[in-house]
Amino acid sequence: MFTKNASEALNLAAYSLGPLLKLGPGDEIVVSVLEHHSNIVPWQLLCERTGARLRWYDVTDAGRLDLDKAEAEGLINERTRIVSLAWVSNTLGTVNPVAALAAAAHAVGALVVVDASQAVPHLPVDVTALGADLLAFTGHKMVGPTGIGVLWGRYDLLETMPPFLGGGEMIEVVRMEGSTFARPPARFEAGTPPIAEAVGLGAAVDYLSGIGMDRIAAHEHAITAYALDRLLALDGVSVLGPREAVDRGGAISFTVTSADGFEVHPHDVMQLLDSRGVAVRGGHHCARPLHHRLGIQASSRASSYLYTTPAEIDALADALVYARDFFGGIRR
Ligand SMILES: Cc1ncc(COP(=O)(O)O)c(C=O)c1O
Repeated sequence: MFTKNASEALNLAAYSLGPLLKLGPGDEIVVSVLEHHSNIVPWQLLCERTGARLRWYDVTDAGRLDLDKAEAEGLINERTRIVSLAWVSNTLGTVNPVAALAAAAHAVGALVVVDASQAVPHLPVDVTALGADLLAFTGHKMVGPTGIGVLWGRYDLLETMPPFLGGGEMIEVVRMEGSTFARPPARFEAGTPPIAEAVGLGAAVDYLSGIGMDRIAAHEHAITAYALDRLLALDGVSVLGPREAVDRGGAISFTVTSADGFEVHPHDVMQLLDSRGVAVRGGHHCARPLHHRLGIQASSRASSYLYTTPAEIDALADALVYARDFFGGIRR
């Protein structure tokens, strides 16, 4: 189904699964602490509507899902109805073991929703091998336009799901007494679709497929390994999340301590790097619970993609040395 973005795709899932599963008190929905807000808030709203309880996978200090803690807590159990997880973290870069976690969720009869916003642009994707029941992604993260996202779903599940938005195109028959609905995907695509955006997304998919997702993943792996090598060697820069390029995407978040030992605010880091021609993001990257869990308010994040070169990583490393010294009172 085409949606406006990944957030709408995840809201569609949460809105429709509530009545389908007849969720109520005693039922549990599981997310993780490293989720983007888009994969937290729709489930919080669903819990508020139904009385279901939201439970969380924690992360280890190394930025991986804490599977031992989840096991010890009995996180996945007979009350679990939905497990909704990011495949790749937009903040830590962590690639979660979604296939194994989906198998565990299915073993207790739960449905599996995957936020693949950071995965579909970067990895070859086989939704069936992954074990996803529903999977969301977004155009603007994959050299495509804004204003378009996708919710993929298992067709037999989609056929049982009630609509999210009502309007033209999603109906079968409308009478004054009530309406019947079209079969999926039309049931979930009310109104005039985002036509230009879908054409743009199609062009992006053709472009990425033409290069080859295997090649894109291999390039990203190499550039991430190089970036980690460079950043981990810098005094005053602390990388959050996995420090090795194994099961790790290209987003690298970090904090910076000035040459005289004070933490530099990520917005200051961002602005100084910008003045050196290096664009990073500063803030909580729509992952506030994760930052709280790590004991910080915000971080800086460098992201690489298929076009990132080693020379650009060198420019980032040089600019970080400059920032660290500049804020520590050392003029270079
Ligand atoms: C992991 C993840 N989930 C969800 C989103 C939300 O995507 P959108 O802004 O298209 O709704 C993003 C990116 O912004 C993301 O990185």
